[in-house]
Amino acid sequence: MTDYQALDDEARKILRDNDRGSYTVPTDGLYPYQWNWDSAFAAMGFAGSDPDRAWTELETLFSGQWQNGMVPHILFHKPDPGYFPGPDVWGCSGPIPSSGISQPPIAATMARKVWEQDKGAGHPRMSALVPKIAAWHRWFMQWRTDRGAVCITHPWEAGRDNACDWDGAMAAIDPQGVGEYTRRDTGHVDPAMRPTKQDYDRYIWLVQRGRRLEWDEEQMARDTPFRVADPGMTFMLLRATRDLRAMAEATGFDTDEIDAWITRLRAGVETLWNAELGSYDSRDVVNGGFAQCVSNASFLNWYAGIENADMLAQLDRVMDAVPHGVPSYDPEGPKFDAKRYWRGPTWGIVNTLIAWGLEDCGHAAQAERVRRTTRDLIAEHGFAEYFDPIDGSPAGGGRFTWTAAIWLAWATPAAGGN
Ligand code: GLC
Repeated sequence: MTDYQALDDEARKILRDNDRGSYTVPTDGLYPYQWNWDSAFAAMGFAGSDPDRAWTELETLFSGQWQNGMVPHILFHKPDPGYFPGPDVWGCSGPIPSSGISQPPIAATMARKVWEQDKGAGHPRMSALVPKIAAWHRWFMQWRTDRGAVCITHPWEAGRDNACDWDGAMAAIDPQGVGEYTRRDTGHVDPAMRPTKQDYDRYIWLVQRGRRLEWDEEQMARDTPFRVADPGMTFMLLRATRDLRAMAEATGFDTDEIDAWITRLRAGVETLWNAELGSYDSRDVVNGGFAQCVSNASFLNWYAGIENADMLAQLDRVMDAVPHGVPSYDPEGPKFDAKRYWRGPTWGIVNTLIAWGLEDCGHAAQAERVRRTTRDLIAEHGFAEYFDPIDGSPAGGGRFTWTAAIWLAWATPAAGGN
């Protein structure tokens, strides 16, 4: 018999141990700073036991917001030599030392969840966040859309660092002149679980390019080799913008502009349908081609409130193909790698968002299947960063904040389900 109570306690302890006071690190060692979407998940994890701490997490994230509205993907609150590339490499000038790119915009969705737990008590803090979230979404709409689909300018921006989705666009980069550097990630975990050197040179090349252009969005968009419209980012921003709308309405914040964003994003989703593949897919904006990848982000359509029978069939297929789903890349695809990060492994956080969407759209059986597989993996193998979808083994960093958070808010039997 699994001792779920002990697992709940362990998850709470992980959140406490990774708590640095006003923000939470993803895991000790490998990721010593505040990451954008990790933090939004952390807020959700805290919400059940400590809503005050949940609000603080989101407020700290927005304290790093740039003047142009962008909310960085990493806030370097305190120097840490164990991480590369640090603030000196990014060379940014926001209110807090930070990276120069953003990350999946799920903060509005998590803020709404925290608020809905106790609307009265949460009202002042929610109201103060709404204009800041709106400024961030406005930044995406102004600088990062192509025909209404949300584009990334660096693979790290998607939160799916080395996904197969970016291979074509990455191949177009010649990383000449990137120079010598020492990676830190491979000192913390097995290099076979991390992106390759080929990828890493290009990651750093893109950072150096942004820095040279002083992170000016207009200049960065000009002649860039890397600009990819991503279904994950598009679905997440669409969902988050609907959640922002619900909060805006409750505070008297103007909703007309938000409605226009929803309409544009909804149209953008259509441009990501790859009919040949029968799936939502990433689209290279520079050369116009699709990536030909069924990824876990392809399955976030329900999360954005979009029904699609072909995607439901795809979901059944990929979940039947591996014992532990949802894999981050098609297990029947040519590039599948069960251990390498976003090229095959299953990620509890994405599973959570997929299952919420399925449930919202009335696919209770599929939602429960995703929950069950995630619950069993964590119960058996612990709160790892991600898992091998074939043998279930834990991979990447251990004692991970977001895995603890989704456990408490969704995967544990105490959160509901069967
Ligand atoms: C990796 C993941 C990214 C996450 C970060 C911190 O870079 O790909 O999604 O935010 O680690 O956990």
